[in-house]
Amino acid sequence: MSKLWQKKGKSPHTLVGKYTVGDDYIFDQKLMPFDIQGTKAHIKGLQKIGIFTKSELKKLLKELTNLKSKVKKDEIKVSIDDEDCHTVIENYLTKKLGKLGQKIHTGRSRNDQVLTAIRLYMKSSLDEIKKLSTKLAKEFLKYAEKYQNIPLPGYTHTQQAMLSSIGHYFCGFTESLIDDISFLDKTYSHINKNPLGSAAGFGVPLALDREFTTKELGFESTQINSLYCQNSRGKFESVYTESLVQIMLTLGRFATDLLLFTSQEFNFFKVSDSLVTGSSIMPQKRNLDGMEILRGNTSVVIENHQLIQNLVKNLMSGYNRDLQLMKKPLFESTDMVIASLQIVSLHLKGITPNKKSIKEKITKEIFSADIATEIAKKNKIPFRIAYQQALKKTQKYKPDFQQNINSKISLGAPGNLNLSYYKKLLHSK
Ligand code: ARG
Repeated sequence: MSKLWQKKGKSPHTLVGKYTVGDDYIFDQKLMPFDIQGTKAHIKGLQKIGIFTKSELKKLLKELTNLKSKVKKDEIKVSIDDEDCHTVIENYLTKKLGKLGQKIHTGRSRNDQVLTAIRLYMKSSLDEIKKLSTKLAKEFLKYAEKYQNIPLPGYTHTQQAMLSSIGHYFCGFTESLIDDISFLDKTYSHINKNPLGSAAGFGVPLALDREFTTKELGFESTQINSLYCQNSRGKFESVYTESLVQIMLTLGRFATDLLLFTSQEFNFFKVSDSLVTGSSIMPQKRNLDGMEILRGNTSVVIENHQLIQNLVKNLMSGYNRDLQLMKKPLFESTDMVIASLQIVSLHLKGITPNKKSIKEKITKEIFSADIATEIAKKNKIPFRIAYQQALKKTQKYKPDFQQNINSKISLGAPGNLNLSYYKKLLHSK
């Protein structure tokens, strides 16, 4: 396959080709459907300014649709010789339609082409991630309601602190995910800008109808300055991956909790056989590897976010080939977040609270702060004095878990979860 930039009789050393393409041709397979979408919008725009006739446009669009279905069926793959998906598209059209195919690159560069494709990819992934996050937030809420009266020790410094409930614990994840979803929404609107038509970064001597392609591709607005279009590559990926980091920060905490809470020492939850793996030497082992991988993936997603910032920081304005290396962390993080949301959902279904064991593990001292508050309220004395008296009383205290949960009436506490608030919020998502 010929390169789009090949000049007659000249080609670089094979090592240069291999080194510069790297794994990019594999990542471009993912981008191809979005690049086809961008190409369709671009050529429709070209037809509007007289570069193509209506019937030429029709032929090109038809071939692009055929190509898209071939890509979907894995019949067409980007190879290392192709270099990238942009080359595959142009060469395919040229093979099918001759000179007409060679005309599609009028008024564009691979620089705005790849920008557009990545942006469309990020928008579509944000949609999918939002759907899965919303589903998971609803699942946490469902179990929060179901288990709202089951006690659970609350910890600070990994030491028992005050009594909580499973409902309270799960509801925290619902609210965390709601915040993460709102970050996804903000990210979506931040990146919802069309870079197509910025060409190599400096525009073209053609009256491209950029507003038209903006509408055609479903972008909210047009990214105007053609140089900034290029300079936003990496910055937008960084905002996008930050929104993924937020989700992993939520899920990673759940993973660590679950690993502890299902260990013999805690034994707060029973785990379904479908979630555990075993050991080749220790027959008794029931390991929750999924949550360990989730914990590790959280680090990878954070690292990928930083890698993107590192790759783009201090680059000279305009396109630089380094930008290509952002695809790996971008795609890897996206796939990890999607899989992590799914795995947590599965774990939520596969765990059941072990009420007896939880109750046995709750220490009397966990009620000391409540006793101190009670003494202060009853005797109208300063809390600091009540605090001094509380520990003694704790020893003789006969805990009533349900009563204690019910007594925590401050907003957002175990006795006042405000479940309907979350229900309403998630209902509109
Ligand atoms: N694979 C390249 C990338 O991701 C496509 C753009 C190439 N542009 C260029 N001027 N070499 O950045």
